[in-house]
Amino acid sequence: MERFGMQQQVTTPDKRVGTGIEGLDSMLQGGYPQSSVTLVAGTPGTGKTIVCFHYLNAGIKNKEKCLFLTSDERISNLVHQAKKFGFDFDSAVKNDQLTFMFLDLEKHTIHKQMEEEVRLGKYSRVVLDSLTPLSEMPVWVMNRGSEIIPSENTVANTPLPLDSIQATRMHVRRILRILEEDSCTALVTSEIPEGTRNLSRDSVSEFLVDGILVLDVDPTMDRRKLTIRKMRGTKHTLKPRDIEITNNQGIRII
Ligand SMILES: Nc1ncnc2c1ncn2[C@@H]1O[C@H](COP(=O)(O)OP(=O)(O)OP(=O)(O)O)[C@@H](O)[C@H]1O
Ligand SMILES: [Mg+2]
Repeated sequence: MERFGMQQQVTTPDKRVGTGIEGLDSMLQGGYPQSSVTLVAGTPGTGKTIVCFHYLNAGIKNKEKCLFLTSDERISNLVHQAKKFGFDFDSAVKNDQLTFMFLDLEKHTIHKQMEEEVRLGKYSRVVLDSLTPLSEMPVWVMNRGSEIIPSENTVANTPLPLDSIQATRMHVRRILRILEEDSCTALVTSEIPEGTRNLSRDSVSEFLVDGILVLDVDPTMDRRKLTIRKMRGTKHTLKPRDIEITNNQGIRII
């Protein structure tokens, strides 16, 4: 009879991708698990975009290919913000290490555009900032639910009601699936409405991702916090940690 424990158990630890934030890698057993999707959730102004800046900057330093997907038209603004923390994204764009892709929410082709860019671009780090406006786009569910597309090109079809939880869930799943390419490790930001205990406005993405970082502020104490709510295959603390944002260093775990 084979007894459990006689054979040496060999477990291969997940490969890790550095977060670029001082003190965070050691809290995550080395970084985000490779090929994972992590939600960076928080109320407005809590540092979600800055977490993404650190992540891409670490990739650039490592000579990796990075993609920043955004529905914010002001890409030069983002580059300017990043520069304040010492991240030189201008040079990275010129060297073809970093690509900014603007997602025009008015267009019904953005899913296809994203899909092609992520698949063909061979990026190792991808950021989607933010998932929230994308998940709230009007969509139609087609072909008995096998397909979900933005509304513009589907006049003749009967959609599921736009406010149905099934439609939102399918749409968010569709977006996240694009980022689940084996070759890339993704961060997705998500807005938490003030005063709720939800982790996203769509209330489903938190169940579909591999990891969740929650950013928070405590205005009365003038403090910022970061909490690792979940991270696949990782032993981590659930305790909120104090963080600070400074001009030279960006985000730092205190
Ligand atoms: N140079 C700086 N030094 C200190 N704190 C800063 C600096 N620049 C920005 N901040 C802080 O970071 C916040 C913005 O961070 P960030 O843009 O990452 O937030 P966000 O969560 O992405 O916000 P939003 O929900 O609006 O997208 C500012 O509101 C400010 O409190
Ligand atoms: Mg932001």
